[in-house]
Amino acid sequence: GLGLQTERLGRFIHFEESVDSTQKIAHKLAYDGMKEGTIVVAEEQISGRGRLDRKWHSPKYTGIWMSVLLRPNLPPPKAPQLTLIAAVAIVQAIEEVTRLQPNIKWPNDILLNGKKIVGILTEMQAEADKINSVIIGIGINVNQQLEHFPEELQTIASSLLIESGKTYTRAKLIQVILAKLEKLYDQYLQHGFLPIKLLWESYALSIGKQIVARTITGSIKGVAKGITDDGVLMLEDKDGKTHYIHSADIEMEKK
Ligand code: BTN
Repeated sequence: GLGLQTERLGRFIHFEESVDSTQKIAHKLAYDGMKEGTIVVAEEQISGRGRLDRKWHSPKYTGIWMSVLLRPNLPPPKAPQLTLIAAVAIVQAIEEVTRLQPNIKWPNDILLNGKKIVGILTEMQAEADKINSVIIGIGINVNQQLEHFPEELQTIASSLLIESGKTYTRAKLIQVILAKLEKLYDQYLQHGFLPIKLLWESYALSIGKQIVARTITGSIKGVAKGITDDGVLMLEDKDGKTHYIHSADIEMEKK
């Protein structure tokens, strides 16, 4: 077993050797009425999915490929907050287990030494202005060597092993992530988003910095001011106008 210390998260675990995508399985389980806290973990994904229709490279036995099913009693616009909660939980878990200090790049990348080690993909199903299910997909590069990555990723992605020279037990990481996530999620349901927003901002790389946000309608340059209570990025351009960015790729400007 995973030795879980949680009340709800991970009490029901679907473990698979090889899957298309843990997201796909979690969506099906959600549809079948599975409870909040159900998780799907696989050793390998054949067609792991990333944001913006990208692929997520998920080789066997090296990383954490996991989807967590939540059923919060919230309106759909609150769903992005859950991505930010997951990001904080993962950063805290990596800090605790590895003593490394990762940072968050809005909205949902976690980086070590400027390279991506974690991706989060949140997908929601809602009915009549009420969330039915949220599936938080978490991909963590744990024990990959550099040659495990496709060449085009080798300069932008990394793993805990590459950055620290040490291998980590994936079950231990999962256990700590679920414990942190449950704690933050409960805190969020009881006290709202503000305490988590402050934590998130303390880990974020881009706040106060000059960035370029590439959205589907074009690029906007400006200084990242922070996030709104709904997890939307606020960007102030050179004319002092604030832009609210819901979905984009962020690039930090080189000096
Ligand atoms: C991203 O950074 O683009 C998000 C990547 C999310 C990857 C995880 S791995 C587990 C889950 N299953 C998937 O197919 N994708 C997510």
